[in-house]
Amino acid sequence: MSTDILFHPIVFPHLTVKNRIFRSSIAGRIDNYDGSGTQARITWEEKFAKGGVGAIVSSFVPVHVRGRVQPNYAMIDNDDKIPFWTALGNAVHRHDCKFILQLSHSGRQRDIPGVENLMNKALSASGTTDTFHGLLCEELTAEGIRGLVKMFGDGARRARTAGLDGLEIHASHGYLFTQFLSPAINRRRDEYGGSLENRARFLMETVAEIQRCAGRDFHLQVKINAMDFNDALWPWQAKGTTLDESVQVCQWLEAAGVHALHISVGSIFPHPLLPPGGFPGDELDWWYGHLISSGTRGYLNYSAFHFRLTRAVFLYLWNRTKKGHPVEGVSRELARAVKEKVSIPVISTGGYQRGSFIRETIGGGYCDAVSIARSLIANNNLPRMLEEGRDLPEKPCSYCNRCLVNVVANPLGCYDVRRFGGDHDAMVREVMTVFSEPGFRS
Ligand SMILES: Cc1cc2nc3c(=O)[nH]c(=O)nc-3n(C[C@H](O)[C@H](O)[C@H](O)COP(=O)(O)O)c2cc1C
Ligand code: SF4
Repeated sequence: MSTDILFHPIVFPHLTVKNRIFRSSIAGRIDNYDGSGTQARITWEEKFAKGGVGAIVSSFVPVHVRGRVQPNYAMIDNDDKIPFWTALGNAVHRHDCKFILQLSHSGRQRDIPGVENLMNKALSASGTTDTFHGLLCEELTAEGIRGLVKMFGDGARRARTAGLDGLEIHASHGYLFTQFLSPAINRRRDEYGGSLENRARFLMETVAEIQRCAGRDFHLQVKINAMDFNDALWPWQAKGTTLDESVQVCQWLEAAGVHALHISVGSIFPHPLLPPGGFPGDELDWWYGHLISSGTRGYLNYSAFHFRLTRAVFLYLWNRTKKGHPVEGVSRELARAVKEKVSIPVISTGGYQRGSFIRETIGGGYCDAVSIARSLIANNNLPRMLEEGRDLPEKPCSYCNRCLVNVVANPLGCYDVRRFGGDHDAMVREVMTVFSEPGFRS
């Protein structure tokens, strides 16, 4: 076995991953509008498997179209999606890499609802619109919650039938489960609102249903915010979920038989703290027009990105929240606070790239593994580089967040033209490589 902590296998009760580098979820519009998967998605994921990550956590995979963030996301809402996920799992497995599917629902954070959702409001813990976009939503009924719990169970069963290696529940970044957990959003008066136990009930019932449908012996992890930080961004708002509350929920998840925790931060996505780094104003102006009709404040917000003065005000408020927080390992202190209180493995996300920093993070007991999104978009073979002894790639990820901002309109990829020597065409050619393979056939 390697003496390098990064390349020690991590052993969960029902899953062994060959190293400590997980590819974190990267959602993007490279699938079909109807939620069926494409060869582009398979080619994209295979790039990371070839590059040496131990496991890939899929993109945001909606369990129902009403919980989709944007069109062109591969879903797992029907048995007819199983062959696609089997093909994707097989492609990744060929490179000794595991594939964990992220079961997801947007709740009210539905950036581009798409034509299927034109006549409905998003579903959430309460009927209050979100603070920024003004995305309309309605409060889920208890019956609606039971229906969703069942959809998560069905999605889990499909993932196992497809031959995948495990599941992750997306309970972070302001999506549906976060909306229930957060006292700033959840104003319910029934058994799903009020006390922390009540606010966590939907998540805990979903865990139980997933275990019933996919088996307790199928790897299950939960991606959860250690803290929401929403009052940091919107000072007039009530506090979101605190660290103490999250730690308690993590302990309940462990007691319920969840096998690992994936620790993140941020009450919305994106949030000034996650993904950490820059926020490119020019790209906001170019691409956020796609979201303009989604919320009641869309015209106001996205027009603000267009004018230099209003954009500067927005970026000032956004960047102010980041003060005092590092980019590298933005949530690692919080991951350690969780790790101290649970005995299942903890994965930490946010700003990892430098080999020495990741080794120090794992060796220092902050977490058991790290997950990476953007540094792997920039250098798909980052794990191989680290294994060969490089500390940082020659053309590292700059954390500029252009990949993130492009995602509402353009295919997935690195959009920092500086990494391509300023050659825009070369950058676009690289982005388009996901479309180079012949079509996927089930
Ligand atoms: C383009 C893009 C898409 C993302 N999609 C998802 C997603 O579908 N689900 C999720 O949990 N996180 C998503 N994230 C967040 C990442 O998984 C990761 O937690 C975050 O970017 C911090 O890691 P990094 O600094 O290594 O990028 C996305 C990030 C980016 C940049
Ligand atoms: S656009 Fe490229 S360099 Fe910028 S954050 Fe994304 S992957 Fe990194």
